Amino acid sequence: MNNSSTADWFQDRIAAAVAPLLPGFAVEAVAEIDSTNTELMRRARAGRVEPVLLVTERQTAGRGRMGRPWQSSDMRQPESASLMFSLGMSLAPADWSGLSLAVGVAVAEGLDPSGEHKVGLKWPNDVWVNDRKLVGILIETALPSDGGPDASRYVVIGIGINIGAREGDGMRTPPAWLHQWRPEASAPGVLAELAEPLVRTVLDFEARGFAPFAERFAARDVLRGREVTLSDGTAGLCEGVAWGGELQVRTDAGLQLISSDEVSVRPRGMSF
Ligand code: BTN
Repeated sequence: MNNSSTADWFQDRIAAAVAPLLPGFAVEAVAEIDSTNTELMRRARAGRVEPVLLVTERQTAGRGRMGRPWQSSDMRQPESASLMFSLGMSLAPADWSGLSLAVGVAVAEGLDPSGEHKVGLKWPNDVWVNDRKLVGILIETALPSDGGPDASRYVVIGIGINIGAREGDGMRTPPAWLHQWRPEASAPGVLAELAEPLVRTVLDFEARGFAPFAERFAARDVLRGREVTLSDGTAGLCEGVAWGGELQVRTDAGLQLISSDEVSVRPRGMSF
């Protein structure tokens, strides 16, 4: 059965914009897949580490952070559509810390360039609007299959964006969606807007690390100045994100720097 997507994903336009930055880059669009992240990780483990953007209309086993499932609406139902895609590419930054934050900055700025719609960043890489989740980001890496001395890894950056209205049933954080302020937005249109700036951001991060993104993250940081609770029970005042990408939380025991993305953080009053 042909699994190609019949939607127009502007593949040629995206590939033409990105290929000068990332030689060999291709865009693939499929009608259905278990998970775009799972597929690119499978390919990487099989030695296929070409730069690619894989987008789908429907995921049957979408994955979120911390082993959670990720439920997205079928892109073929425009009223409630989601954009689901993964970018895979080899990367060799001197320091990996902060990559997910830089990706969040690129997505938030792409969706709301001026900040007028209050699209903010919730450490480490959720994109929130008024304490509602608009975008989820899942970043995974695979080692080179030959296990050689090469410092590069294949990184898979998976992004799920609520385009149309959706119910919040069973979600940890109630959803926000793009049609709330851009009723004409479509999943292919949003992908075409985000793809090249996203790749540019990842390459910029590879060259210069997180520090150049720190101020841009701070401008949209939704936790800074708020009382937060960590999933290990620690509570304190969030003092923003450090230049290395760690979350700074002032607790009774002093300033704690949280770097593990296995620790979840919630504004006080929101349950885990
Ligand atoms: C999270 O907030 O927990 C991360 C959600 C990431 C969802 C996207 S949708 C495209 C890609 N494929 C997946 O299976 N997950 C990511």
